[in-house]
Amino acid sequence: MDDRPIGVFDSGFGGITVLAEAARLLPEERFLFLGDNQNAPYGDRSAEEVLAFTRLGVGQLTSLGCKAVVIACNTATSAAAEALRQELALPVIGMEPALKPAALLPRQGTVLVMATAMTLRLEKFHQLMARYGHDAVPVPCPGLVELIEAGDTDGPRVEALLRALLGPHLDAPVKAVVLGCTHYVFLRRALARLLPQGVALVDGNLGTARQLQARLSQAGLLRGSGEPAPAPRFMSTSPDAAIPQRMQAWYRCALDELP
Ligand code: DGL
Repeated sequence: MDDRPIGVFDSGFGGITVLAEAARLLPEERFLFLGDNQNAPYGDRSAEEVLAFTRLGVGQLTSLGCKAVVIACNTATSAAAEALRQELALPVIGMEPALKPAALLPRQGTVLVMATAMTLRLEKFHQLMARYGHDAVPVPCPGLVELIEAGDTDGPRVEALLRALLGPHLDAPVKAVVLGCTHYVFLRRALARLLPQGVALVDGNLGTARQLQARLSQAGLLRGSGEPAPAPRFMSTSPDAAIPQRMQAWYRCALDELP
């Protein structure tokens, strides 16, 4: 039995959707969430900058005694996960756009992969495309994370931007849209309104939570107390003292919206 918490890191609010999935799957585990809201969005920065920010954030979580860290951000994973795995003697769980499950759906049509420009540019995604990308179209989504960080997940500005980004790809049949950035999971409702019926919205959150569970179990790190853990603790790099409270509210929304 290992009572130490699990750290969950993202550039901002997006990783809360991963946290919700992980907390539901592992109700006995304690979680600390850190959002680097001060430096978000990561997607339009250089890979070196994102590596440096992620190293700092993950360092903050390990200094608080975390037994494992989830990089709940596709962008930060692409830029930093390999380096941090070399540097740290604890499980580091990363993410990638859920292209594989989307590509394997038994239906005709393209797979649109929404993600940040950096995720789509870096090597990890090229490898994924080489294996599962025969019907996939990468769709970089500049501007979306800014709106979500500002609290807009379902308003007219989000709707207009989604229409501009995805509209040009909707003439051909689409079988799935991959939410390849954890922030976009908050856009499920807006996307469902925009997309033709029957298009699957696929995120990698449950897969990531299952991987966390497997890694903890292999390493003998599960809490296994037999009792539910206290609620997650929320922290932000931003000096805006209202953010941890907003994170809690978003966490409750994310839990409510889990399938
Ligand atoms: N949430 C992040 C991801 O999964 C990135 C958002 C950002 O650009 O900061 O890619």
